[in-house]
Amino acid sequence: MTETFADRLHQTRLGLGRRIVEHIRSGTSDLADSAMRNAVSVYTDPARHAVERQKLFRETPVVACLSSDIREPGQYRTFDETGVPIVVVRSRDGQVRAFLNACLHRGARLAREPAGKANLFTCWFHGWSYANDGRLAAVPEAERFTDACGASALGDSDHLIAVPAEERYGLVFVQATPGSTMDLDTHLGDFGPQLELLELDKAERVKDGVLPVASNWKYALDTYGEGYHFAALHKQTLAPYFRSDITVYDQFGPHHRVLFVGRELEAWVDMPEDQWGVDDALGGIHYIFPNTILFAGAVSPGKRYYTTFRHFPGESPGETVTHKAVYAPGGVRDEAHRQEVDAAFDATAHVVTTEDYVVSAEGYRNMLAMPAGATVIYGRQEISLQNVHKTLAEAIGLPLPAVTPAQSPLREAAE
Ligand code: FES
Ligand SMILES: [Fe+2]
Repeated sequence: MTETFADRLHQTRLGLGRRIVEHIRSGTSDLADSAMRNAVSVYTDPARHAVERQKLFRETPVVACLSSDIREPGQYRTFDETGVPIVVVRSRDGQVRAFLNACLHRGARLAREPAGKANLFTCWFHGWSYANDGRLAAVPEAERFTDACGASALGDSDHLIAVPAEERYGLVFVQATPGSTMDLDTHLGDFGPQLELLELDKAERVKDGVLPVASNWKYALDTYGEGYHFAALHKQTLAPYFRSDITVYDQFGPHHRVLFVGRELEAWVDMPEDQWGVDDALGGIHYIFPNTILFAGAVSPGKRYYTTFRHFPGESPGETVTHKAVYAPGGVRDEAHRQEVDAAFDATAHVVTTEDYVVSAEGYRNMLAMPAGATVIYGRQEISLQNVHKTLAEAIGLPLPAVTPAQSPLREAAE
């Protein structure tokens, strides 16, 4: 008998539930083999930052939005966050395409709203217009774009400059270099089937916003990777609901999934599996390399929401903008449901901006004051940070700087 999607989803959740119960029972967690030091300069070095911006944000597929954000033909969203002005649109034939958001006449910005629906993009400078598959459709006073013999300078090949864009598993990926080749299936690898389980194509955007932070983008990203900080930093906000000592971690190539353990799951230890309700209970972080966090959470059991946090570096290593959006999985059922998901946006944004991003900005400022050779230390429970930093370094072709363990304040204190 072939396994149905629902079976695969349930079995995956059950497998995760069993790992959680085993960890609760035995007081364990998924852990790295050892702690790891990383050079502070990985966060602060402007030269490294410039290489990251190029290699990770322009030469790697990056999530631009969800498929459902541009579900209808003509729906578009602008995507400027990599520094390259791009418009992502669902063309009349249903295919997602991306273009430089630049008019062929003299380069003016074409789509000037962050999102909308258009059969034609009309340039506001001189009124040239383009079909939503990028073809040049109309030119005012076209007869004046001719040579001395009256032959037009414009041809059928005039077309907005294409940027690689494709959808997979309800996500729209863009590689922000025109003319480059994007190999999305290789990029996603065995993470694809895990993303598929989220059924993101059915999710509906309820609210979005922008969370800036005066910190390095990796420092901001790190705060989404470990639950170790819940007990201290999120003492009032998350710690009452989540344990900080158990992580369930799976790596899929450069991507990962991390589950944190809600305290209500402690009751599972004394319950038969079929009463756990794994289908309603499990949330967690999906990290889509290099910059996207997709958080699956629940307002209350059974009332689920998805949040995307897409982190983008600014010009300097100490500037980051997080684009956050919240979605109703399966679509918005009614007004009450919309309000719940809307409230989930505000609640998570509050925790991030008043706790995680305050610590990120203060910590980054401290890093700038540290002497050469200073390090941070990732514990064994901060396994996702260890792997992310190794993977990022490999992807940009700059090894992590060698570190000197003797500089550890912990070690000095112990000696
Ligand atoms: S720049 Fe767009 S029509 Fe002139
Ligand atoms: Fe946090």
